[in-house]
Amino acid sequence: MKQTEQHLPKHIAIIMDGNGRWAEKRFMPRLFGHKAGVEALRSVISRCSSLGVEVLTLYAFSTENWKRPADEVGGLMELLVQFLQKEIAELHRNGIKIRCIGDLSALPERAQAEVEKARSLTESNTGLTVNIALNYGGRDELLRAAKGLAAAVASGSLALEEITADAFEKHLYTSGQPDPDLIIRTSGEQRISNFLLWQLAYSEFYFTDVLWPDFDSNELDKALETYAKRHRRFGKL
Ligand code: FPP
Repeated sequence: MKQTEQHLPKHIAIIMDGNGRWAEKRFMPRLFGHKAGVEALRSVISRCSSLGVEVLTLYAFSTENWKRPADEVGGLMELLVQFLQKEIAELHRNGIKIRCIGDLSALPERAQAEVEKARSLTESNTGLTVNIALNYGGRDELLRAAKGLAAAVASGSLALEEITADAFEKHLYTSGQPDPDLIIRTSGEQRISNFLLWQLAYSEFYFTDVLWPDFDSNELDKALETYAKRHRRFGKL
């Protein structure tokens, strides 16, 4: 058995960065880079699914991404809709479960409808779970959890002493899922950018200069090999 198979992360989270630079290098509009990014996303989903990874979380659109020019925001939403329409049957056939995390209420109605269709079609699948983070922000998620707990305490259904890490975790979008073992960020940037602030507490980081559209299953295998060599201690000796 290869080392990567013995030490396969249960949950991989990815900050898919560098689409814009990939397009600029080719003197093409940024959306061209995002389109190429969708191809990378397809190959990484397929590799994770065949390796037996349990959860893959992809940062597709952050709460800050609304500040981009309207045509880029619209283009990204359209890519999401097209991706779900084109790929959902195949994803479903492969037992993949699609979930979206983030405040979906701010998405265009068409995107919300497509996301809901994908969720309900695949909810009973038992293969790879793909969390697509859309209008997602880590601080937003923590505030949402804090409000949920505060409301439960105020209504008397939860005692103050019952606010434990487990109780907190139940209010996160990723409730019930293992925390990411590995977080990958492409394009040479080395920041968390408000992603999974609670869940990344003990994750291994893997940074690569490869731009997201060039990140294929080979690149994923390199990240997995690096991960397999690391010794995770969780604060212990
Ligand atoms: C960051 O690159 C990437 C994004 C903000 C969007 C990621 C989206 C996709 C890969 C495709 C659409 C998603 C789905 C689920 C169909 P950047 O544009 O910030 O790159 P730059 O830093 O080089 O400008």
